[in-house]
Amino acid sequence: LTARIIADDHFELSAVPDRIFGSFVEHLGRCVYEGIYEPGHPRADEDGFREDVLELVRELGATTIRYPGGNFVSGYRWEDGVGPRDSRPRRLDTAWHSTETNEFGLHEMDAWLKKLSVDGRPNELMEAVNLGTRGLQEALDLVEYANVPGGTQLSEQRRANGADEPLNIRMWCLGNEMDGPWQLGHKSAENYGTLAADVARGIRQIDPNVELVVCGSSGHNMPTFGQWEDTVLSHTYDLVDFVSCHAYYEPARYDGDMQSFLASGVDMDGFIKEVGALIDAAKAKAKSAHDVYISFDEWNVWYQSAQPSVVPAGIGNWPVAPHLLEDVYTAADAVVFGDLLITLLKNADRVKSASLAQLVNVIAPIMTQRGGDAWRQTTFYPFSLTARLAKGGTVLAPKQTSTLIQAKAYGDVESVNSVVIKREDGSYAVFLTNRSLDTAADVEIVVPSDFAGSSGFSEVEATTLHDDDLSAANTVENQDRVTPARNDTARLISGGSAGDESASESGGAGES
Ligand code: AHR
Repeated sequence: LTARIIADDHFELSAVPDRIFGSFVEHLGRCVYEGIYEPGHPRADEDGFREDVLELVRELGATTIRYPGGNFVSGYRWEDGVGPRDSRPRRLDTAWHSTETNEFGLHEMDAWLKKLSVDGRPNELMEAVNLGTRGLQEALDLVEYANVPGGTQLSEQRRANGADEPLNIRMWCLGNEMDGPWQLGHKSAENYGTLAADVARGIRQIDPNVELVVCGSSGHNMPTFGQWEDTVLSHTYDLVDFVSCHAYYEPARYDGDMQSFLASGVDMDGFIKEVGALIDAAKAKAKSAHDVYISFDEWNVWYQSAQPSVVPAGIGNWPVAPHLLEDVYTAADAVVFGDLLITLLKNADRVKSASLAQLVNVIAPIMTQRGGDAWRQTTFYPFSLTARLAKGGTVLAPKQTSTLIQAKAYGDVESVNSVVIKREDGSYAVFLTNRSLDTAADVEIVVPSDFAGSSGFSEVEATTLHDDDLSAANTVENQDRVTPARNDTARLISGGSAGDESASESGGAGES
């Protein structure tokens, strides 16, 4: 046996936060243009939104959408993206060395989120303000424009621009990755903490119902990690609701060592635990009763050091919607991705919001061709399956043992990573990854009899994403090369009786 997982619903960790299935749309490459928005495409609707993409985003199950950046936001003037389209300016986007046409802005995003809705409630927008080249006044202007019902210059301007009702944006990011030297307007922790506190206070003077995300570290491996959170939270603890974490993984981080890459979830787990400790310390120092949670608002596999991430260059070369960060994800990437999502869920007592970075074309689960198809990358499936089965459920406290494997970067690590969700209908959904490069996993899931209800369980069903070729990927030519399949090795060991019940499944390395 490789692993034993106990589904013990005496120990509930947290309700599954809906926002943990958030994603991210940045004005970057072809995420917006040719991604969600492409007037003239055969499947574009009257607003220019691609319906084929909308369908895939619904199937993915993404909830809250973070927008408009990312590094982009640190040079963005939100006013450029509102008002009549033909008078919107074309601007330099220095973060991605591109031209921003501003054809798509806040109102278009609001309309797109309404169309995305499956139950009549628009998907939530998580809006970021520019604290790179801008500051307090511009952030307040945006909050007034978006959330004040009317009767002032900016709120009336919004109404004149077609949104009679306020946009009611609850979640706001106070800048993006302000710890990163690459960030336009990068700041020291002291300067950022002071600014973020001022902006938070000001925003709350306009709208006390907002939820605010202060920038934490843009990576666990940032030299300032820890000290940054400590200083920033010393200024902002009682004024914010979330501190952000960002993490991206790629084999190059481990000099190509695939076993370490497959164990990347170990790093994410440590990152969350350490930020949790920093939050607790800040709370103690602030002598506060207020709680701050983690918004893991950028996470993914990203081949950051590879060619697709090389930005254009040259004073005369500022392309519109260039192909940027268009990573093609493999079966191995999907395992790491699934492992990261499991790790977020296992920490749902701390992580109340997360954004898969990003949604379309740019390090994305969904790819599109200009004028052509839209298709699912390998990473689409762990997300869509998990969102479908976990939403509305309860995360149970992790209880598992598994054999250990050696990963150079992390030493001995668990070969299986898992999380158990108790679903509203009384069933259990168990998500697991086999991190081992060379050994199939034989897993027993134990549901003690007193938790199984008087009638016990009568059914077990399993789905596995697996490929013998770890580098197999879905491409425009072969869109369904890697897809999940029913795993027929799963079975109920003690039938449908009221005894202890367990399901076991096995399979090769690279499972999700
Ligand atoms: O998601 C791509 C980029 O990664 C974002 O713009 C930035 O915030 C991060 O460094």
